[in-house]
Amino acid sequence: MDVFEIHGGNRLRGTIQIGGSKNAALPLMAAVLLTEGETILRNVPDLKDVELMGELLAQLGVSVRRIEPGILRLRVEDESNSHARYELVSQMRASVCVLGPLLGKRKTARVAMPGGCAIGFRPIDLHVRGCQALGADYDLANGDVVLKTKRLAGTEVFLGGPFGSSVTATANVMMAAVLAEGATVIESAACEPEVADLAVYLNACGARISGHGTPRIVIEGVDALRGVEHTIIPDRIEAGTFMIAAGITNGELELAGARLDHLVAAVDALRRVGVLVKRTDTGVNVSAARRLEPIEITTQPYPGFPTDLQAQMMALLALADGNSVLTEKIYPDRFLHVAELNRMGAHLRKEGPTVIIEGVKQLVGAPVMASDLRASAALVLAGLIAKGRTVIQRVYHIDRGYERIEEKLRAVGADIRRVKT
Ligand code: EPU
Repeated sequence: MDVFEIHGGNRLRGTIQIGGSKNAALPLMAAVLLTEGETILRNVPDLKDVELMGELLAQLGVSVRRIEPGILRLRVEDESNSHARYELVSQMRASVCVLGPLLGKRKTARVAMPGGCAIGFRPIDLHVRGCQALGADYDLANGDVVLKTKRLAGTEVFLGGPFGSSVTATANVMMAAVLAEGATVIESAACEPEVADLAVYLNACGARISGHGTPRIVIEGVDALRGVEHTIIPDRIEAGTFMIAAGITNGELELAGARLDHLVAAVDALRRVGVLVKRTDTGVNVSAARRLEPIEITTQPYPGFPTDLQAQMMALLALADGNSVLTEKIYPDRFLHVAELNRMGAHLRKEGPTVIIEGVKQLVGAPVMASDLRASAALVLAGLIAKGRTVIQRVYHIDRGYERIEEKLRAVGADIRRVKT
């Protein structure tokens, strides 16, 4: 298993190209199940999760070919199998994104219920309730969610849950509704840019969706969708992570292709900390003041501060000049990085879904364990500034969502290398 070895202390300087969004790519690939003909997806990140989604789609009768770096060609060739099996679903929760399109197009979907997850309890009740509202019958058989229908009919669907809207439930209901009869209105829909990107693709294929990017999405059902070419939006979480990398190393990075309008809350938080963020002709320029101010942050659904940047922000605030408070409102148990950051000299105290961060002057290198994707990114960031050597084990978690992160960081001056053990 690969590890990352980092010697901290280098200021990062230079340009990093931001890749395509993982969380846009995965539902977009699943959406191809709804279409006839060929879809070409551009700006597809080269990630383990994308590979896994490709494998799942292949099992569901879709031919998936990477025709050039960053470009996938997909086409449905066989609609006879509608069963997403546990072996793949258990490796990647986003497999659940095939539920809506399978139901919408094939009128039957059998998808293994995702199990436990490192970032906490992640139910799929909203996905199922949304599909039931459209007219599907639900059964749980041998650990699989089974949805069947003779015909789906448009209706009103409320997708607000105890922690706000749900990103992939919105994607699933939208995908189930595009071929339904009549109009569907999703209330309390997720507003994330990844959901909006999915709607842009579906509309280009012939769907009639409006209101995407707002909490009220209206979908007028159509008879058929035709595959098209689509370019995936840049990954806002990768961009946010590198913004924090510039901040934590007191460096200056140009993030080519990053979109500030997708990162409003994160940029606001970074500016309050003292990180300078400017829009440029090609993306975003980030540089940092020497002194970092402590702040309070609460994660929220988009456009609030993203839970997917919570761990990375904690690494930055660990070095602020005073006490910060970080509250997690999406996944109250997403704190596996806290104990690891404390091993590196951070002073973090967890109180329920809140972490009190007492800023320290210096982090120190240590052997640490990657747990989930974003927690692992936080450890990389901490390692970049920690005194001495940090060794991060289980980096396969990082490879799921960051494309060659060590190469991108090394190119701007970080002392980081992948070691095969
Ligand atoms: N929830 C329910 N019931 C449901 C679905 C969700 O109660 O049926 C709850 C969840 O437990 C959570 C909240 O609603 O408390 C929001 O979860 P959501 O459904 O929005 O999460 P998701 O769609 O499963 C996506 C991203 C995650 C990201 C979250 C929140 C993808 C493939 N995954 O997950 O990304 O953290 O939205 O923004 O889009 C990551 O990239 O590291 C990652 C985990």
